[in-house]
Amino acid sequence: MALLGVNIDHVATLRQNRFTPYPDPVKAAQICEKAGADGITVHLREDRRHIQESDCLKLKKTIKTKLNLEMSLADDIVAFALKLKPNDACIVPEKRRELTTEGGLDVFKYREKLSRIIPALQKNKTRVSLFIEPDIKTIELSKKLGADCVELHTGKYANLKGIKQKRELERIKKAVQFGNKIGLIVNAGHGLNYDNIKAIAKIKQIHEFNIGHSIISYSIFWGLFEAVRKMKNLVS
Ligand code: PXP
Repeated sequence: MALLGVNIDHVATLRQNRFTPYPDPVKAAQICEKAGADGITVHLREDRRHIQESDCLKLKKTIKTKLNLEMSLADDIVAFALKLKPNDACIVPEKRRELTTEGGLDVFKYREKLSRIIPALQKNKTRVSLFIEPDIKTIELSKKLGADCVELHTGKYANLKGIKQKRELERIKKAVQFGNKIGLIVNAGHGLNYDNIKAIAKIKQIHEFNIGHSIISYSIFWGLFEAVRKMKNLVS
């Protein structure tokens, strides 16, 4: 049964929009956990547009499941992750002007840096994942660099339709099987919603789905508890 990590960044997006004390990501995390979330994910972006360091520290103390920190390779973010010691860290590419994480990490370009940062995080018992495209060579190198997991970027799958979407799903399936075969935990996420999750959730070897935007969006209409509960049912 696949796990559901709920990304609560956009609870903080709403708060930062007015710099009010609400809505509180800590409170949101508690509701997500009660509704069946297996973990809470946050992305401490370099521009701090939503989640702040203080949120991460409070979440680390209060959540009962596990904390997954999405992080870039920027020096200050890495230093903070080493101080925070989250249960999981997912290394992502980051561009300042992007609306959300566009594309997977260029593991070939950053191999040197990754080969230093992955073991440093693991020393704190943080499980390290790399957010990558469903590409065999990239998965192979992720394993070589010592990553525990990979998270496959499902953005393309989410945006395509019809036969093109089916082909991308096949590519993801093969990537999942290959990752599993070489001993990696394989997660998936990005752009997944209550509709497109159904086909991808049939790939049994996916360990965990990380989903944020659709859950937080639908929580406006259904409430957060119900939005998480519905997604948890679809994932598992
Ligand atoms: N996984 C990773 C690594 C991400 O960067 C994001 C977006 O922050 C997600 C999952 C969740 O994507 P979405 O908000 O589109 O569900």
